[in-house]
Parts: sequence; C-alpha cells; structure tokens
Amino acid sequence: MFLVLSSTTSAYPTPTLSLPCAAVAYPGATVSVRSKSRVSAVSLHLDEQPFVPEVEKAVDSLYSEFRAVDNLVARNSARVLKAFQNARVGSHHFSGSTGYGHEEPGGREALDQAFAEIFGAESAIVRAQFFSGTHAITCALFAFLRPGDELLAVAGAPYDTLEELAEDGGLDWDALRVALKPQTKCALIQRSCGYSWRRSLSVDEIGRAIKIIKLQNPNCLVMVDNCYGEFTERIEPPMVGADLIAGSFIKNPGGTIAPCGGYVAGSKNWVAAAAARLSAPGLGVDCGSTPGDIMRIFFQGLFLAPQMVGEAIKGSLLIAEVMAGRGYKVQPGCRVPRHDVVQAVQLGSRERLLAFCEAVQRSSPVSSFTKPIAGATPGYASEVIFADGTFIDGSTSELSCDGPLREPFAVYCQPLDSMGTSSRRGLNSCRQCLWKLSVDIEKLTMVKNLAENRHGNIASPD
Ligand SMILES: Cc1ncc(COP(=O)(O)O)c(C=O)c1O
Repeated sequence: MFLVLSSTTSAYPTPTLSLPCAAVAYPGATVSVRSKSRVSAVSLHLDEQPFVPEVEKAVDSLYSEFRAVDNLVARNSARVLKAFQNARVGSHHFSGSTGYGHEEPGGREALDQAFAEIFGAESAIVRAQFFSGTHAITCALFAFLRPGDELLAVAGAPYDTLEELAEDGGLDWDALRVALKPQTKCALIQRSCGYSWRRSLSVDEIGRAIKIIKLQNPNCLVMVDNCYGEFTERIEPPMVGADLIAGSFIKNPGGTIAPCGGYVAGSKNWVAAAAARLSAPGLGVDCGSTPGDIMRIFFQGLFLAPQMVGEAIKGSLLIAEVMAGRGYKVQPGCRVPRHDVVQAVQLGSRERLLAFCEAVQRSSPVSSFTKPIAGATPGYASEVIFADGTFIDGSTSELSCDGPLREPFAVYCQPLDSMGTSSRRGLNSCRQCLWKLSVDIEKLTMVKNLAENRHGNIASPD
C-alpha cells in the first residue's frame, strides 16, 4: 500500500511523497482518506509553512560560508576522535560513582586526559561540581590570585557576572604594550564578547596579546575566559600560550546534552591549584562523585560538540544575514569569520528586545507557552531578559537569546536548534525562529511607527 502525503499550504511548492508504508505508521498526523480509491490516498495537513523566501534566499546565499563551517567541524571532530582514542575511552568509563567518588572507574582521568589533548593543554579538570562558567573561571582566577593582587582585564570589563571580581581594562594594542606593571599578577582575556558590543577575539589575537603581556612581565599569568569560543576555530588558547582556560559544559563543549559542569585546562600546576579551589587544599582532582549517567553524557557531549558548534555558527551567520537585511546592526557582521557562537543584533528599543525574546521563547520546544519577563538576576547589574525554552535549564548551547535592558538594547543569540541532533534540523529550527522573529519585529515596528507618527515622528529600525 502507498501513502501519499501532500501539504495543503499553497504559498510554497508542496512536496508529494510516496511512501511504501501503512497509515498507522503516522498516528499523530491529520489524515483524510479517500476511501473510494483502490489505493488509499492520505494527505497530511501541515498547519503552517515555516519558511519564507527571505530566509530561504539567505540560506542559499550562505552556501560557501556553510561549506567552510563543515570543514571546520570535520577538522575539530577528527581532533576529538583522536583524543578519545589516545585516552582509551571505554564504556566502563561511563558508570557513575557515589559518595567520595573513590571507586570511580577511571572515567574522570580519561575525560580529563582527552579534554587536555583536544585543547592543547598539559592538564585539565572537567567536573560536574563546577556549577557554571562563572564558577570555573573564578576557581581558575583564584588559582593565580591572592587578596590584593592586581588583575588586568585585557578585553575590557569582564562578563557581567564576573564584574565584582575585577577592574576594567581595554583591548587596545597600544595601551596593552604599556599596561603591564611588575606587580600585575594575572591578565584575564575574555574570548567572547559577553554583553558588550565588541568583536570577539580570535585565538591568533589572543596569542598576540599573550606575547605582548609576557614580554613586559614574564611572571604575569594569563587566564582566558573561553566561554562560547570552544571549537569555533581549529586552535584553542592553550596552543598559543594561555596558562589557564575555563568554561562551562552547558555551553559549547557539552554538545547541547551535558546537564551541568565546567572545566579548567592549562598548565599542570595551575590546574591542580584551581582544583584545590573547587574542592579543598589537598583533595585535588582525585575525588568527587559523578552519580548516574553524567559521565557518559560528558563524553558523548564532548564528542558531539564540534558538530553542535558548527550548527550554532551557521545559525549565527543566518541571523546576521536576515537581520542586517532588515536594517539592524549586527555583531559580528555578515559573513565575517566567527570566533564564538554569539550573534548580537542591535534592536534599539526595550520593546523590540522584549518582542524578540518572546518570539524565540514561543519558537522553543520547551515552555513555548510562557512569556519571558525581564528582571533582576543574581550576578547581573542591569535587568536582563532570557529566552531559553531549552532542555537544560539556562543552556545557551540550545536555541536561546538574552540581553540586558540597557542601551543599545542588543539581543545576544546563541542560535542552535534545541534538539541539536542534525544539521538539517538545526537549520530548520533556526529558519522557523527567524521567520517568526521577522514577523514579530515587523508587527512591532508598525505599531511603533503608528504611535510615533501620531506624535509627528517616523521610527526606523535603528
Ligand atoms: C563571555 C562569558 N563569560 C562567562 C560567562 C558566565 O557563564 P555562566 O553563565 O555559565 O556563569 C558568560 C555567560 O554568558 C559569558 O558570556
């Protein structure tokens, strides 16, 4: 028997599929059966067509950029595979442990070893006990710093949640050449833009900054906040001289499936010092249990991470293309090589920022029925709005966006499909979301234009 599926939507070409299977194979589909026909013909009614020509056009025009991302994914995946093989990762490493974790069957060591090799570091510690990127970064910084020590924030103010830890600085090459003092103990380089309207740093630029720093003060230790940067390039900061890097497993390296955790990697002694901050002096890296299935998910997430990051980069290229086409300022710019997975769009008003986040939330698979509300969040100075209809609470490796409610009302998108399992699905979800966003922003602009016209003003997108 043949099943004929056809879309009832007329705006776009309707695919007609002939499948050699029975209707019962699709119990959820809305079907109409032409019973008089000798061969049962069933049509599937799609409620809505997610693509619009504007987005389709953008996807087609990005072909060569997407190919370049595929090449990046292939290279990074090969590095990860090699590291897994060298660490002799086996299924016995996936079982959980309890209590002190003394009976842990070697998974911790294998994961640390593989992670260190992937990132070009001497040593690494990947643990569920790091409860966020901020926590891992703080442990790394406290490995270097004691009260009263001087820290130089090379790329400007660090991410909002780290503001209380550090004073301001600035990535200005001339200024950096004279910025180091003999007493500067540590330089913090934030790879990704955070909530600032700046370009994220390439690993080459980070290497150049490290050389300038060490030339002035060879004792100054360099710590890189690697959040959102992992796997966006072929190299990582330890390969260009960073003493330590730190980040979160619910971002890039967790491959969208790690439920918690973070990492610190770099020189052996400093990783041990960071581990002592995480646990307690003397306990180091050899204890701490990881119950349930988490070890397996860490290994599997890390293995998938290059591919998931590739999807996110494609999503960010697509968002930039479409939103810039609508007249919004985007950072990074269209078709510019990526150094992180974050795509910022300047929306120019509080209402547009709220509408954008609401549209992302509505397009999400989890809690699509809720409305994100801006509010005070621990660690953040300004009011912030988060749209994260994600499987992992707060995961910005899935399709999410957020932004502080302050000028220039920029939204920071991490544009990966929430299911995150295949290239095709990633793009579809992103396209669907973009379509909805375009509609929402358009409606909002019209409402705003009407309101402002009444007062003799014409509003423009930026
Ligand atoms: C560049 C950067 N560093 C650090 C953090 C803090 O990470 P977490 O939210 O996991 O604490 C963020 C959060 O978005 C970030 O963008």
